[in-house]
Amino acid sequence: MAQIHKSNGVLDWLDQRLAVNKLMKVLVSEYWIPKNINFLWAMGVILTTLFAVLFVSGLLLLMYYKPDVNLAFDSVNQTIMQEVEYGWLWRHMHAVAASVIFLIMYIHLLTGLYYGSYKKGREMIWVSGMLLFICFSAEAFSGYMLPWGQMSYWAATVITQLFGAVPVIGEALVEWIRGDYAVGDATLTRFFMLHVCLMPIVIIAVLVIHFYSLRIPHVNNLDSEEIDFDIEANEYLNGDKKKAKVIPFWPGFLAKDFMYVAFFMIFFMYLVCFHFNFAMDPINFEPANALKTPPHIYPEWYFLWQYEILRGFFFDMFGITAANLGLLAFAFAGVAFMIIPLLDTSDVVAPAHKRPLYFIWFWVLVIDLIALSILGKIPTAGREWLGFGSSVLFLFLFIVALPIISIIEKRRG
Ligand code: HEM
Repeated sequence: MAQIHKSNGVLDWLDQRLAVNKLMKVLVSEYWIPKNINFLWAMGVILTTLFAVLFVSGLLLLMYYKPDVNLAFDSVNQTIMQEVEYGWLWRHMHAVAASVIFLIMYIHLLTGLYYGSYKKGREMIWVSGMLLFICFSAEAFSGYMLPWGQMSYWAATVITQLFGAVPVIGEALVEWIRGDYAVGDATLTRFFMLHVCLMPIVIIAVLVIHFYSLRIPHVNNLDSEEIDFDIEANEYLNGDKKKAKVIPFWPGFLAKDFMYVAFFMIFFMYLVCFHFNFAMDPINFEPANALKTPPHIYPEWYFLWQYEILRGFFFDMFGITAANLGLLAFAFAGVAFMIIPLLDTSDVVAPAHKRPLYFIWFWVLVIDLIALSILGKIPTAGREWLGFGSSVLFLFLFIVALPIISIIEKRRG
């Protein structure tokens, strides 16, 4: 056993037993961040804050929510919104945070894409980040079902039905997911379990992996410069703080991030108090009714681009039915960002504005994602060709354009 002597304070007492000083050094005071970054690198900490808001507000909502098809709608719209003191506030915070976390995730993801933060040693950060995106998608989808309104019911029906297209086991799979022939009480309870138990556990585990995967390669910087963190850290520790290209995670980096988090929270609380409606679909204030299909079923704004790709193929091609083509494209869209390190194999690690072809690729992708999202909200008639064109462009950008850009960059050295 280690030598334990009389401690001269709480910290020393803990240090002798848990090596907290060493731990703090490894995790914060000697974990190095480049100086050459801007507010876009605060998105990770803002995302962590939003996850904490979702967690705490979710715990409070859980005290009154009832996962039963006969009680769920009223437990949300009557009990939480009208009877419980400040129940409306926690519900608005939960709904707005669920929507805004996707906005920030998209900014975070696009920043990584722009600066090539998925390359050369940073692949694990990228893949774990995309796993987080998929986990948050499952979390958001299962949460959307819980108020048991019209959109909850019909979105669940449409999305679970998609699994019916899986060859051979499709129908059995749909029934297994729903726990019944149609979306009903069994479906609600299992999605409730996913939302409040399984997905949060998985998300926390993947978050730990995401943070840990930053440890060795460190975060990227505005010039995508390959910094020797050992040399720069020594420079900093030897007192030449101005010349060193790095600062410690705490207090240097986090103190600034907290300022961004504070500004963000002002904006967030403004949305929660005055513009919460954007995060709640008006159709979902009508109780679920299996006999009345809403005229236009659509997902939340952050899934619209994927939804448009799903319905973008409206005629059969290459002997494959339109529905199956849409499904294949939708499945590809689900993994397209994750496999970017495999598609962009060029050795050039630089911000997009220093890679002319990639720069064009990046902005065409952003415009296409916006176009797909707008089209996804428009009812079916009249938008078919635009939807088809935007979906094909998305596939082209990933399957054809990016690998070709990589080859050209490699040839040019
Ligand atoms: C709620 C989900 C997420 C949380 C809490 C989170 C958290 C963080 C944090 C704290 C950092 C370090 C600081 C920073 O660069 O902002 C970071 C970096 C990073 N994250 Fe995430 N992240 C999340 C989702 C994602 C997603 C969806 C992606 C997409 C692939 C992603 C990819 C990255 C990359 C590539 C970096 C390194 C950035 C660089 O090297 O410059 N993360 N993340």
